[in-house]
Amino acid sequence: MCGIIGYTGHRPAVPFIIEGLRRLEYRGYDSSGVCYAQSGRLNVVRAEGKLALLEDKLANMEVSLATTGMGHTRWATHGAPTENNAHPHRSSRGELCLVHNGIIENYQEHKNALIGKGYCFSSDTDTEVLVNLIADERAAGMPLLQAFANALKKAQGAFALALMSPEEPDVVYAARHSAPLLLGIGQGENFVASDIPAFLPYTRDVVFLEDGEIVRITPGTWQVFSIESLEPLDKRTHHIEWDLQAAQKGGFKHFMLKEIFEQPRVIADCMAGRVDMARREVSIPELADANIPSRLRIVACGTSFHAGLWAAPLFETWAGIPTTVEIASEFRYRSPLLEAGEAVLVISQSGETADTLAALRIAREKDCPVIGVCNVVGSSIAREADAVVFTQAGPEISVASTKALSSQMTALLLMALYWGHRRGVLPAGVMQEALHGLSSLPGHMENSLPALREQAKGLARRYSACKGMFFLGRGQSFPLALEGALKVKELSYIHAEGYAAGEMKHGPIALIEPDFLSFFLAPHDALFAKSKSNLEEVQARSGPVIVLTNPHTEGKELRAAETWTLPEAWGPLNGFLMLCALQLFSYETATCLGKDVDQPRNLAKSVTVE
Ligand code: M6R
Repeated sequence: MCGIIGYTGHRPAVPFIIEGLRRLEYRGYDSSGVCYAQSGRLNVVRAEGKLALLEDKLANMEVSLATTGMGHTRWATHGAPTENNAHPHRSSRGELCLVHNGIIENYQEHKNALIGKGYCFSSDTDTEVLVNLIADERAAGMPLLQAFANALKKAQGAFALALMSPEEPDVVYAARHSAPLLLGIGQGENFVASDIPAFLPYTRDVVFLEDGEIVRITPGTWQVFSIESLEPLDKRTHHIEWDLQAAQKGGFKHFMLKEIFEQPRVIADCMAGRVDMARREVSIPELADANIPSRLRIVACGTSFHAGLWAAPLFETWAGIPTTVEIASEFRYRSPLLEAGEAVLVISQSGETADTLAALRIAREKDCPVIGVCNVVGSSIAREADAVVFTQAGPEISVASTKALSSQMTALLLMALYWGHRRGVLPAGVMQEALHGLSSLPGHMENSLPALREQAKGLARRYSACKGMFFLGRGQSFPLALEGALKVKELSYIHAEGYAAGEMKHGPIALIEPDFLSFFLAPHDALFAKSKSNLEEVQARSGPVIVLTNPHTEGKELRAAETWTLPEAWGPLNGFLMLCALQLFSYETATCLGKDVDQPRNLAKSVTVE
């Protein structure tokens, strides 16, 4: 949560920082601010609300001479999203400025001690405490680097920080612990940021900072130090292959829509190098050296959790591996028992989700091997897992996850095939059918998406006024029902619940009335007849129904329902097309209601706090 950026070099810093913040706005967007060094002083400008309001303020200011600065876009944790709580924060004597992503858990005890020493506070934030803690170390005579490190050693919690001082007006210091931070290396300029797109137009050479590291950048130099010892550290530079195009809207109105339409390519990219169609084989080189687990514990949050629920039956039926799926925030606090031979499989698009990362660390402490399924290369989860399967979806900018889920489903399905084959338990014909189906899936999806969008628009127009929605499915459609409900909730702010269709009669059916929609996921599978009975129970109570189904189930059987018919795919692959339909329905519903699709209220893309 929150995006930070720092720059020092030869170009005007403020326009660069604003441009970078725009590409980090997905991380938080309730207030923003910049700090820039000009004429030997640090100037701070902050604004409540979206970045455009900060730009309006800056429009009337002379900032063109500043070539060093830093910026912040906020998702509030401590204190309301007001200008006063917006970053950067100054130390109480005004000498230091700090931007922060994360939470300082023991800020209150430090605040009390600092107040005792005469420090004043003007915001409700933990960040203002930390900047004063650094200032206090500096006042005690420590050089700035040492003062920064000493203060960080006293801070508990998660942070990615950038720090400036008028004593060194062309220097930015930055540090991380349990929150993402990268260093970008340019020619006569250097960058720090929470995510690569912030500086991608200017450099693709990146250093991934680790927990417990501080970096000092000037226009021509950079050096990483250990926070603990202040020893200089050797760091490896990585060259980023993807370009800015991948992080821009490419003609679509919203990132979400672009990312929905990217799914055919994302599925193909995830298969590339893993599927040998000629030999009808799947290989996952990243798992070649890892033992096949005798039991699998999938741990994830949100949409990634739904990917795990969707894939669990594949690990069981194709690979014969008993699999359970847990929400990371629950797993981490319940002392889970992990058996010998068991592996924890963490799924995370960002690779930075605090709860999922904590679950990974717990598993490792218990000597349980951890496999990561991750999108972001260089993320904490990718670096800390014993083995990582990258989903190769490219940057996902929209806060609402779409293509990440398709890529996770593809990667997990391939893993189940791979392990099932290696263990010699894959049911006959499954490899053949699955690979045949997968190879035609991207084309199939690409052809279907434009029509699906039109159908979604029509349905959204008819049902967006509903006061509530159920998303209902059985078997592998159940996790997708959860995902459909999550998408509608987060984008449209309509109360929506995902349920196993068979659970309706145990309570939820009491909510059914003429303006409460039930959206059934009922593909042409062995459970269709059961879902149909549940659907009729809703219709008998005058509840409106949409049913997402396949051609073979159309017609008389579903006469009274609003049917949305998708082309049929093989077995679990039906889930990919149903997912697109659900994503488009939620997108069009939110658009119909005039909601901010890419930046829904109260949310942020990367949840690096608990
Ligand atoms: O980056 P992660 O996959 O670990 O994120 C987990 C959830 O925060 C995320 O899937 C969230 O539920 C979606 N953005 C919702 O659309």
